[in-house]
Amino acid sequence: MKIKEAVFVVSNSDASKCPAPDRPEYAFIGRSNVGKSSLINALTKQNKLAKTSSTPGKTQLINHFLINDEWYLCDLPGYGYAQVSKTERAKFMGMVKNYISTRQNLLNTFVLVDIRHEPLQNDLSFMQWMGENGLPFCIVFTKADKLGQGKASKMIAQYKRVLKQTWEEFPPMLITSSETRQGCKDLLDYIQQINEF
Ligand code: GTP
Ligand code: MG
Repeated sequence: MKIKEAVFVVSNSDASKCPAPDRPEYAFIGRSNVGKSSLINALTKQNKLAKTSSTPGKTQLINHFLINDEWYLCDLPGYGYAQVSKTERAKFMGMVKNYISTRQNLLNTFVLVDIRHEPLQNDLSFMQWMGENGLPFCIVFTKADKLGQGKASKMIAQYKRVLKQTWEEFPPMLITSSETRQGCKDLLDYIQQINEF
């Protein structure tokens, strides 16, 4: 799929105030600093569409972007970064979980994990929560440009070993880099497939 147009619509802290749920929607979630906003910019080829920062905790609201006037991308605040206060973390997690579990038009959530990190408890717990609530998601490995192919494959194999302890089946997995745009086409094709379903 080609993105011809991507426009920022609205930011808010309350799931009930999001745009009318009249189009397919896809959300990006994961730890702070994992690269959610950067990936949205890479997908849309717009450097400044979603605000990014090297300091974790940049995205603090639920942000909607309208793509090709047909579907929404949603950038969410990250969870679980030690540099963000415990109160803030709890607030973001509550906001995100409320949004994900109540948003009627949300067709898939992309859970981003940094390909350099071993499976982290807060990511695994988040995926567990998604599974328990019957919410569909993919795992998106980010920052693939930071590792060679051999090392990247090892990290993914390790991730699968850990998932296997609790999951009968693996969720779909994508390997991406916002620097090189690796995986962007795969991710957009995945969205297109769901949109057409
Ligand atoms: P919060 O909004 O704080 O939750 O973070 P985020 O997940 O939106 O991360 P963001 O996109 O702001 O990126 C965090 C940092 O990682 C920035 O310094 C980015 O430049 C960097 N980054 C993101 N994606 C990539 C990538 O694919 N490769 C490399 N090398 N750096 C990346
Ligand atoms: Mg962000």
